[in-house]
Amino acid sequence: YTIYIPDDSVALALDADAIATALTQFAQQQAFDLHIIRNSSRGLFWAEPLIEVDTAQGRVAYGPVSLADLDSLCEAQFWTGGAHALCLGLVDQIEYLKRQQRLMFARMGVTRPLSLEDYLAHEGFVGLRRCLAMTPKQIVTEVLDSGLRGRGGAAFPTGIKWKTVAAANASQKYVVCNADEGDSGTYSDRMTMEGDPFMLIEGMTIAAIATGATRGYVYIRSEYPAAIAKMEQAIAIARAAGYLGASICDSPYSFELEVRKAAGAYVCGEETAMLESIEGKRGVVRAKPPLPALQGLFGQPTVINNVISFASVPLIMARGAAFYKGLGHGRSTGTLPIQLTGNIRYGGLVEVAFGISLRELLFDFGGGSASGRPIKAVQVGGPLGSYVPESMWDLPFDYEAYAAAGATVGHGGIVVHDDSADLSKLARYAMEFCAIESCGKCTPCRIGSTRGVEVIDRLLASPAQSEQQQAEERLLRDLCDTMQYGSLCALGGMTPNPVLSALNFYPRDFGLDATQKN
Ligand code: NAI
Ligand code: SF4
Repeated sequence: YTIYIPDDSVALALDADAIATALTQFAQQQAFDLHIIRNSSRGLFWAEPLIEVDTAQGRVAYGPVSLADLDSLCEAQFWTGGAHALCLGLVDQIEYLKRQQRLMFARMGVTRPLSLEDYLAHEGFVGLRRCLAMTPKQIVTEVLDSGLRGRGGAAFPTGIKWKTVAAANASQKYVVCNADEGDSGTYSDRMTMEGDPFMLIEGMTIAAIATGATRGYVYIRSEYPAAIAKMEQAIAIARAAGYLGASICDSPYSFELEVRKAAGAYVCGEETAMLESIEGKRGVVRAKPPLPALQGLFGQPTVINNVISFASVPLIMARGAAFYKGLGHGRSTGTLPIQLTGNIRYGGLVEVAFGISLRELLFDFGGGSASGRPIKAVQVGGPLGSYVPESMWDLPFDYEAYAAAGATVGHGGIVVHDDSADLSKLARYAMEFCAIESCGKCTPCRIGSTRGVEVIDRLLASPAQSEQQQAEERLLRDLCDTMQYGSLCALGGMTPNPVLSALNFYPRDFGLDATQKN
């Protein structure tokens, strides 16, 4: 009998190792053959650890499994697909998965993260092999034609970035993966690195071939030790098999890749602060221009993309730009791994094409709040994203529609709050977060964030309808304006998003007149 137990951080935090050990011991005592495979996670966190068993009909899932459930599961001989209260049926038929368009995350839960054999058996390195028969220019054109845009949050066209680096004249170019996934409620980068690391390696290698780079770095936050370990092992395996290093797959291309561990600063997710950090300096933001595409790491032309941007490339190259462009909504092409978190009943990863509404995500996938209370506010796009009120939940999830409404898709992180949330406290927290994480280079952010906390405190302490209250509100809006337009990078520049959306859509939480229009 074969059973599958995930080995990612979420499963491990929920006793997956102890469950695997207990089942191994049980099988030994009962003298029957139980083969345990440690697979990647499907990202159905409400059902983790999700244990799957091979049956003649396909894989059957059980979850969420705890150590306390093992006796009854063994009594039911779950390894044969036996009936049990935790049985979720055939894993492919679970609605949460069935309704998704899993392309990039198609291998998640299916393959073993560090098995090159599994990766190759599931479309792995098909994209790279196709690229080796193309010119670098053709690869860049294909990425351009796919419409892929940066998944880190800024949504800049990936093909244009690559074209800029490819056209730059330099003896040394670099490819850097920004895996400093610091946004609240996000984990798609982490899942990729822990669950399908060869996909990221393949995407970065294609970027190197397309742009003429020969060295690359994956900059991973120190809070992700399992991702760091998996990436380091996967790089060694890929190198030994000829997919990295000199003469990749016997081609004239060479690409050396290594992991750099970040030290825990949110601002090092900003690309230029990240470059400083990789160079061994303090993570302070550089002024742009020059763009990193022209003068990046050690002053050389550098492709910098987020994990999910690179991870989208093997699929695009394997199936073609037209396939990818055929998915999505407007100028937001392809799929996005959306991450549902916070006060939500069914938290987990949902890969769907752009265009889905937040309401569908919150209710069809998320099942409403975990507390059972009405959902009041949803922060989309990390700690610098706006709070999205119910009046906007039917907007199509795409970069343009969200930008037009003053919101951000960002890295696809969604944090849900029920009606017990106080948006004035969340706005205050946004300013406080900015003050703590500011690199200190520019005044609107370094000083503005601290003043922002003070102004919100005074606003909340002032009597309702008083002149003082109105003056503090004006001051807060004025300060947000200065931060938005005067800050050097997105940290100071986008902190007003959560603050102003809280103020505009939830004025009562600030003790302001709800009928007041701003
Ligand atoms: P940006 O708009 O300045 O730049 C986007 C990217 O395009 C950069 O890599 C930039 O170098 C490149 N670029 C711009 N013009 C170019 C050109 N002409 N040729 C080639 N490359 C060009 O945005 P920025 O400041 O890099 O990122 C801000 C975003 O980061 C925010 O929207 C936010 O959502 C996101 N963010 C993501 C976090 C995460 O954990 N993923 C954390 C914090 C912020
Ligand atoms: Fe540094 Fe903040 Fe200015 Fe960005 S906005 S450069 S984090 S001080």
